[in-house]
Amino acid sequence: MATSRGGKQRQPLLHHSPTPAAANGGGAAGRRRFIAFLAAAAALVASYHLLAPTDSSRYHALYLSLGCNATAAAHLRALTLRPHVAGTEANAAAARYVLDAFSSLSFPAHITPYSVLLSYPVHRSLSLAAARGLAARPFSLVQETYKDDPYAAAAAEVLPTYFAYSASGSVAAEVVYANYGHNEDYAYLASRGVDVAGKVALVRYGDLHCEDMVRNARAAGAAAAIVYTDAKDFGGSAPKGAKRRWFPDTRWLPPTGVQVGTLYYGNGDPTTPLWPSCAAGDDCERLSSEDLAGSEAMPGIPALPVSARDGETILKAMGGDVAPPKWQGGEGAPVYRLGPGPAVLNLTYIGNDTLATIENVFAVIQGKEEPDRYVIVGNHRDAWTFGAVDPNSGTAAMLEIGSTEWAEENMDTLASRAVAYLNVDISVFGPGGLKPRATPQLDELIKEASKMVPDPDDPSETMYDTMMRHHPPITRVAGAGTDFAAFVQHIGIPSLDMSYGRFDDYPVYHSLYDDYVWVERFGDPLFHRHVAVASVWGLIVLKLADDEIVPLNYVPYASELEVPFIHI
Ligand SMILES: *[C@@H]1O[C@H](CO)[C@@H](O)[C@H](O)[C@H]1NC(C)=O
Ligand SMILES: *[C@@H]1O[C@H](CO)[C@@H](O)[C@H](O)[C@H]1NC(C)=O
Ligand SMILES: *[C@@H]1O[C@H](CO)[C@@H](O)[C@H](O)[C@H]1NC(C)=O
Repeated sequence: MATSRGGKQRQPLLHHSPTPAAANGGGAAGRRRFIAFLAAAAALVASYHLLAPTDSSRYHALYLSLGCNATAAAHLRALTLRPHVAGTEANAAAARYVLDAFSSLSFPAHITPYSVLLSYPVHRSLSLAAARGLAARPFSLVQETYKDDPYAAAAAEVLPTYFAYSASGSVAAEVVYANYGHNEDYAYLASRGVDVAGKVALVRYGDLHCEDMVRNARAAGAAAAIVYTDAKDFGGSAPKGAKRRWFPDTRWLPPTGVQVGTLYYGNGDPTTPLWPSCAAGDDCERLSSEDLAGSEAMPGIPALPVSARDGETILKAMGGDVAPPKWQGGEGAPVYRLGPGPAVLNLTYIGNDTLATIENVFAVIQGKEEPDRYVIVGNHRDAWTFGAVDPNSGTAAMLEIGSTEWAEENMDTLASRAVAYLNVDISVFGPGGLKPRATPQLDELIKEASKMVPDPDDPSETMYDTMMRHHPPITRVAGAGTDFAAFVQHIGIPSLDMSYGRFDDYPVYHSLYDDYVWVERFGDPLFHRHVAVASVWGLIVLKLADDEIVPLNYVPYASELEVPFIHI
């Protein structure tokens, strides 16, 4: 059994229920043990234990027949009534909701807490002066609620917009515009004689994660970074002659919408990189705040995300050479210039990086024949705001801390016994077919399962048909800061992650507007896409848990290894 790095024995990987009948899954059959890890999709999975193991095609069909859009909608609504950032009381309540959902289905379930370093805003201010020495105008830094917003009262609980783990500090300096914040963008600025050193870099979302953008800004010498969501990429386009409209009228991000995120450049708890954290009161080795302050994994400069409207206000105040066409905004945007200045931004950010408790919820269906082999299903539960689409987005390391710490703690056991880790972080973005990402030995299984489920948007086709039309071929799981990173990159477990639709159709990502209303109107109006994803997901689980021969096919793996690796 894994021990913490401090040498102290912790609870076993699988916490056994005191009631042996329940722990045995009530005749749940299955050869392998099946861990539903933090999963909110309990209801569909639940039907599994009602089924006889003898006739697999019959119980696969029965499983599929039990999918229910009303249940999916009800769980989503209940989980997103309040914002539930990691470490808060609201997120602990969401954990209890998931625990109760599993328990009510007679699954033995328990919560494993970890104490980890989380990061909250204490004070933010940002002001703009037309030039050094001139009067500065402060930005309100508030995302406005919308007309008839049913969550307007709960919106008061949403944390002020910020970047987790941003350095605290105050910077007043001229601003330089650096497009999407790639290293090449800074190289271009240098080639135009624009010096970024000591300046505030203004960059826009669209190509890179915020932690990459802030890292690149710092590498270029910037003293601070401001990241905004350009209307060109997140605001949608208006029909000719019409005015642009946004949520709740359309799926697009309102002008005051802000995409928040984390700047930590790693996985899991920053104080325990690559080794497990422990519960509050227990003893485990941690990096000190001095270690962290000097760590390359921390952003090292103050940074703040702002809205499209604030980004545009800053750009309007800038001088210098006109930026190249690819750096410009969309229709109706002002002409973007490179700077530096003469506009001066004054940013003050004070954050509180503090140890707080997060909870992993586990439910276990014990297998009969190989109960020491695990098929693991999971995702994260905590959200930056309401989390209706993204209960813990794939880019937000803070949100995956729980699964990372658990994976780190149980690394040896998982490495030898886990059959697969099946993650669904965002199940539905909108229309556009299933988009799986996987390690290659799962490709054939994904295809097989998706052929058994009708497409929710056009039931005359299968999920496989629309998947191959919209998203061929199956892509690979990659990327730090994702739910599955610890499982794939640290432990080497066959893993998949999948969603329905396209990320580009989800402009409210990590903003105030990622709420139930958005999902009901734009993401998945009848919740059939949620059910379809759960159906494919569950079939893959059933086959991995029950097939006589574990359905991992290494032929695609061999082919993949022959593909020249060109994308470094
Ligand atoms: C920047 O803003 C802070 C907070 O509002 C203020 O105390 C400080 O004097 C400002 N700095 C400059 C150089 O204007
Ligand atoms: C930081 O968070 C801790 C724990 O929640 C709290 O006790 C402390 O008062 C906070 N500090 C500031 C400056 O807000
Ligand atoms: C579930 O699907 C049915 C049939 O399409 C539809 O009438 C109902 O409104 C859906 N329920 C929800 C909560 O969307």
